[in-house]
Amino acid sequence: MVHYGRNAAEARAVVGQIKAMGGRAEAVGSDLSDPRGAHKLAARVREIVGDRLDILVANAGVSKAAVLDETTIEDFDALFAVNVRAPYFLVQQLLPILNEGSSVVFTSSLAAHAAVGNLSAYAATKGAIDTLVKHFAFILGPKGVRVNAIAPGVVETDMSNFAKTDAGRDFTLGMQALKRMAQPDDIADAIAFLASDAARWVSGDTLRVDGGSKL
Ligand SMILES: NC(=O)c1ccc[n+]([C@@H]2O[C@H](COP(=O)([O-])OP(=O)(O)OC[C@H]3O[C@@H](n4cnc5c(N)ncnc54)[C@H](OP(=O)(O)O)[C@@H]3O)[C@@H](O)[C@H]2O)c1
Repeated sequence: MVHYGRNAAEARAVVGQIKAMGGRAEAVGSDLSDPRGAHKLAARVREIVGDRLDILVANAGVSKAAVLDETTIEDFDALFAVNVRAPYFLVQQLLPILNEGSSVVFTSSLAAHAAVGNLSAYAATKGAIDTLVKHFAFILGPKGVRVNAIAPGVVETDMSNFAKTDAGRDFTLGMQALKRMAQPDDIADAIAFLASDAARWVSGDTLRVDGGSKL
């Protein structure tokens, strides 16, 4: 299942690629800034997959850079709504179909572990994810469900437009051991590892996937 918020066309393009490779896929839209967004998404997922979900990758997120004295209550709440409330209730609502061998992967961030950029409110949402990973892993472990997160550094996506500037590239490469800009596939492979049986003895951990940032 390919979830989208606003960008149905991109989700449908991914569905098309999966189908072209012989797989089955469906695009599912739900706005996770809506308080009932995760509930709606989970209900739709359960309609489609039935009684078992093998892998949940909770990756949707928003960021907004702001210095401390300019962070607004609205921005703070919007960040926590999508980045923390949504994955929390998504797992809650999917509990009945997470079974022995299922794997949940959340998306944390380098920002939760190091003071990078003017991202304190965003960073706090990712710190919350690191905390949820431990609690959910402990709660779901007896059912045989693993819960982990990946913590990317700077990745070239729509979210990190600053990294496409010369100053942003210099800042990013300056803090990384590996001297190139990360691409989404660099992160996706780590998610695939955590979701797979190769990571069968890994639970409750946040894996840094950041090219050795801020060592
Ligand atoms: N880029 C980085 O440098 C970086 C670094 C560390 C961690 N991360 C984390 O990595 C994850 C993916 O970010 P990205 O870099 O790929 O950012 P992105 O290009 O801005 O993509 C954000 C994704 O989240 C979805 N989303 C945002 N708001 C939503 C909402 N209200 N309802 C439903 N879906 C919503 C978007 O769906 P639609 O487009 O369909 O609305 C999109 O798929 C996020 O959790 C982010 O915090 C990113």
